[in-house]
Amino acid sequence: MAVVISSAESRRRFLRFLAASPLLAHSRGPLFGQNPSVALTAAKDAINVMDFEEPAHKALPPAHWGYMASGVDDDLTLKANLAAFKHIQLRPRRLVDVSQADLSTELFGTTWETPIFLCPVGGQKMFHPEGELAVARAARAKKSLQVLSTVTTYSVEDVGKALGRPPWYQLYIPTTWDATEKLVRRVEDAGCQTMVWTVDLLASRNSETYERFRRTDTRNCVGCHTTDRGGRHDGDLPMFTGIPQSYNPPNATWEWVNRLKKLTKMKLLLKGIDSREDARLAREHGVDGIIVSNHGGRSTETLRATVDCLPGVVDAVGAQIPVLVDGGFRRGTDVFKALALGARAVGVGRPYIYGLSAFGQEGVERVLEILRAELTLTMRQCGTPHIKDITPASVMLA
Ligand SMILES: Cc1cc2nc3c(=O)[nH]c(=O)nc-3n(C[C@H](O)[C@H](O)[C@H](O)COP(=O)(O)O)c2cc1C
Repeated sequence: MAVVISSAESRRRFLRFLAASPLLAHSRGPLFGQNPSVALTAAKDAINVMDFEEPAHKALPPAHWGYMASGVDDDLTLKANLAAFKHIQLRPRRLVDVSQADLSTELFGTTWETPIFLCPVGGQKMFHPEGELAVARAARAKKSLQVLSTVTTYSVEDVGKALGRPPWYQLYIPTTWDATEKLVRRVEDAGCQTMVWTVDLLASRNSETYERFRRTDTRNCVGCHTTDRGGRHDGDLPMFTGIPQSYNPPNATWEWVNRLKKLTKMKLLLKGIDSREDARLAREHGVDGIIVSNHGGRSTETLRATVDCLPGVVDAVGAQIPVLVDGGFRRGTDVFKALALGARAVGVGRPYIYGLSAFGQEGVERVLEILRAELTLTMRQCGTPHIKDITPASVMLA
């Protein structure tokens, strides 16, 4: 006997079928253009490095979050850094043995396991009580290069101990030569062999996004800081013990590079070089390496993305000195693209600070782990199992 199904029953059955269907299971996912967001409760659960952004936002007071997130003016340089990767596409090669990938990268006689390094970021106690020490421990665990900021909240000596080797040291040059000599001698005595002079912040800046967040912060800053705008007085920052806390002189010129070169045997890199003209001058002044950088969009507004500046700089200095780059790197594919365009190594800033803010050392470790895994995967998918296999032919500019 035929079973007659009422239209109400058939609708119920159809709905039950839909509920059990894998189609509906994914309906909050990419099918509808939106990934499900799950609150991150442990660093190990992060799927990509941007998963740390929201927990970092939640963990930090508004002024500290705003300081990190800020670019300058309308944040256009910051956004350009991120957007630029979208107009570079990969050109994979097939049928290459990619069973093993070797990411090892040599810089000034030291071989690192990956070309990914941790950029100098100042004031890290603002993001986690263990600040630069937690980052150093993570870098040690993940055998990664750490560049320590002059405005570090732990001393270069203590960070060296936590890292198990002296870090690369990022210099904000003091305004007097006497203080510069003292600072450089201290850094040499700490065993540092590489110094990175940041030259893109000599003319001050307009950090509007930071200012807006700061005004929403109702806490009393003098509880922790020594000025009511969250600043610090002389001697508060460990690298300024015994010297005035005054740096980034706007009258610095290429002559200062000559003086620095004479002052120290450390390798000297310039950070913040974005034009082929300056790259050539850097080489002529005996600089040992360049970091193409715009301070993560924190110094000058409406610049080109660093990854777009990279080929010109590489072209200007040839293979004579290594060119590194930072700014907006969030994926292994981003790193791959910069390597293809001639970068020797690639720095990340905010991603590891997100990790630090949310989960301390573990967060930084997970960020390094994810980026390494993504780069490894990209290299294998593109038929470039060694770093040297990644060439301009590995990418296409749209
Ligand atoms: C909160 C914050 C503080 C920074 N402090 C320094 C610093 O002290 N010295 C320096 O050379 N660069 C500093 N930078 C710039 C980074 O070294 C790097 O150039 C930038 O963060 C890379 O861009 P990304 O954040 O998009 O990865 C800072 C960046 C951030 C976000």
